[in-house]
Amino acid sequence: MLSGKKIVLGVTGSIAAYKAAVLVRLLVKSGAEVKVLMTDAAKQFITPLTLATLSKHPVLVEFFSPENGEWNSHVKLGLWADLLLVAPASANTIGKMACGIADNLLLTTYLSSKCPTAVAPAMDLDMYAHAAHQQNLNVLRSRGVLVVEPACGELASGLQGQGRMEEPEEIVKQLQAFFEKKNRLSGKHFLVTAGPTHESIDAVRFIGNHSSGKMGYAIAEELATRGAQVTLVSGPVSITARHTGITLCKVTSAQEMYDAAVRIFPATDGAVMAAAVADFTPERKAEGKLKRGANSLSLALAPTKDIAAYLGSVKKKGQALVGFALEAADEHANARKKLREKNLDFIVLNSMNEAGAGFDVDTNKVYIIDKNGEQTACELKLKSEVAKDIVDRLQSLLKVKN
Ligand code: CTP
Repeated sequence: MLSGKKIVLGVTGSIAAYKAAVLVRLLVKSGAEVKVLMTDAAKQFITPLTLATLSKHPVLVEFFSPENGEWNSHVKLGLWADLLLVAPASANTIGKMACGIADNLLLTTYLSSKCPTAVAPAMDLDMYAHAAHQQNLNVLRSRGVLVVEPACGELASGLQGQGRMEEPEEIVKQLQAFFEKKNRLSGKHFLVTAGPTHESIDAVRFIGNHSSGKMGYAIAEELATRGAQVTLVSGPVSITARHTGITLCKVTSAQEMYDAAVRIFPATDGAVMAAAVADFTPERKAEGKLKRGANSLSLALAPTKDIAAYLGSVKKKGQALVGFALEAADEHANARKKLREKNLDFIVLNSMNEAGAGFDVDTNKVYIIDKNGEQTACELKLKSEVAKDIVDRLQSLLKVKN
């Protein structure tokens, strides 16, 4: 399964670095081409000669060769790789990756790479459990980094707990599963709507909402990670889409989002409607800027078009349509009503009453309700993880193996 894959293995300073030798052997045996990068500290635990011999490539540590000044291009390496695997990944390196620090060749390669990244943490149990480290890991997870969780057992300190780098066999297995999943949706095209819409009142003011776009962007990233082509129709947000499989179509108002979605939907295999579209828009946009003047101001509002409902009415056999419902009361009944009325295949219910869910947070707690009325409660997790559950469901619906 790793046949022909180009893997940059970053080895950092941890006692588990000795396992890197077995890891390189297994990766090479499963058909991958491996180039090894080491941090200075890693050299204290395993020699570059061992890893160079096993990988059949020189091991890189410095930005340039001290002998002849030849530059080791992190940019080239980052672009060469199909995967950057950091194993063992120390707390120090994970922290620097989360913050974007670039003080060695491994980190500059990480920042230059466009390929997926995986980390296999290795450290003492208390370091692993520390809130700072867990937060760093979550930052990486939310950026799509695959975290190969460390195993529990006896640690170098003699203590027992979670922190042992996972065995090389298990790391290779998880990478194989990752690559297998990665191409599951290739050849498919999806539309995703995300973010709020802004409905202009005058030249400087608008009616909007607090949607950050994070959930919709996470879904677009997940679809693209699995090989799909994604058109992301996004209202005004401050986040960006990173994956090259995503085509961004920026819109401002509900009408613009409607026009884009209606144009794009027919050629897709499905759509995920994650946008928080304004339900009303000012009947007239005032010229220039409204002046303070009078004591009160009434705005006449007209309803916007329901994009999801329209797509539900023109949906063809084989196309999937997924909606969201953000509810404050009678959550489940309202979500089921929307599922029916908009002709959705399943709906993702966000309750405003759940802690850690909703707008502008990195986590979400959702229920997935399908057409047969079956409901799955998902635990509170990162939006990037919720996106995986949603895309898994979408794949099942389209009869694509998970
Ligand atoms: N939706 C849409 N176009 C609209 C309004 C909503 O495509 N004009 C989509 C949303 O993207 C979401 C689903 O419909 O997938 C439900 O949105 P929500 O705001 O929860 O419900 P509404 O239908 O707007 O109803 P209400 O605001 O009254 O709850």
